Amino acid sequence: MRSVKAIQISRTGGPEALSLVDLPDPEPGPGQVLVRLSAIGVNFVDTYHRSGLYPRAVPFVPGAEGAGEVAAVGDGVTGVTVGERVASSDLAGAYAELAVVGADRLVPLPPGVPDELAAAVLLQGMTAHYLLFDSYPVRPGDPVLVHAAAGGMGLLLSQLGAALGARVIGTASSPEKVELARAAGAGTVLGYDGFSAAVRDLTGGDGVAAVYDGVGRSTFDESLASLRRHGVLVLYGQSSGPVPPFDLGRLAAAGSVYVTRPTLGHFVATRQDLLRRAGDVLGRVAGGTLSVRVGARYPLAEAARAHEDLQARRTTGKVLLLP
Ligand SMILES: NC(=O)c1ccc[n+]([C@@H]2O[C@H](COP(=O)([O-])OP(=O)(O)OC[C@H]3O[C@@H](n4cnc5c(N)ncnc54)[C@H](OP(=O)(O)O)[C@@H]3O)[C@@H](O)[C@H]2O)c1
Repeated sequence: MRSVKAIQISRTGGPEALSLVDLPDPEPGPGQVLVRLSAIGVNFVDTYHRSGLYPRAVPFVPGAEGAGEVAAVGDGVTGVTVGERVASSDLAGAYAELAVVGADRLVPLPPGVPDELAAAVLLQGMTAHYLLFDSYPVRPGDPVLVHAAAGGMGLLLSQLGAALGARVIGTASSPEKVELARAAGAGTVLGYDGFSAAVRDLTGGDGVAAVYDGVGRSTFDESLASLRRHGVLVLYGQSSGPVPPFDLGRLAAAGSVYVTRPTLGHFVATRQDLLRRAGDVLGRVAGGTLSVRVGARYPLAEAARAHEDLQARRTTGKVLLLP
């Protein structure tokens, strides 16, 4: 039997829980496609699966995002050909040389988007897209706050937000990150210390229309305090840890504001939504209006180092694994 290199988690824990193993070649079942990956996207959610914050049955191969070419198709799959270039954010175990995925979750790649860029932008690009078009649809002139504005999500939110006419205020933790966020379209980039007071100053005392907060525990209270009346706190992640239980009365006190906690799956649930959103994101990349920063590439075998660096705030832009 042929084997494939993959990262496996047999017991949840720190980055050391990511071990390189040889597994039997995965085979596509009915309705599935086997993809030979050339680039794998690392996402913060992969660290939640690894640590056990989001429980999964062990052993498992982490990761969901990658790009490459179709290696085989299962029974009943039509319209997908072996050798075709594809990407997905729904792979079953992307930290591997080969991974299977439902044919209906595959996205064909346009010629203008190389595999690396597709693996770098698909999941986070579609997320930035629904956050800015659906969770709080930004309008030209809206002041909005984007946390971790030099991160994978943050650079895309800053660019797309600015392109939609929003006045983007970012946060970032180092001078290098401040520069990257500015170049991506954040007009002002703040440190985290006392950011809500700075946001009030920058908005003439009003506050922002929306906060896009993927940091969570350490920013939540001040994010709430940064909103204008009827503003929207879009809590889409928790890189600093989960937000503790919350008294809903605080929404009234903060100005009859809204909090939403969205997740990508619900915004690309149908094939039509997936293709529309992916098509818009990849089209912007191919057309040169959305630039994708790959901040770090690691060999697949060094997935643990990739997780360490991502969680220690040492990365900017997207982190990729190369099989
Ligand atoms: N809901 C969804 O649909 C969805 C989809 C994709 C991603 N997400 C979420 O989006 C967030 C960002 O994901 P990403 O993959 O793009 O990661 P990332 O933003 O590139 O990396 C995390 C960044 O968070 C900031 N941070 C602040 N406090 C931190 C702490 N205590 N520990 C670690 N990082 C901290 C750091 O930037 P600074 O050093 O500048 O502070 C760090 O670089 C994550 O929470 C992820 O779960 C949600």
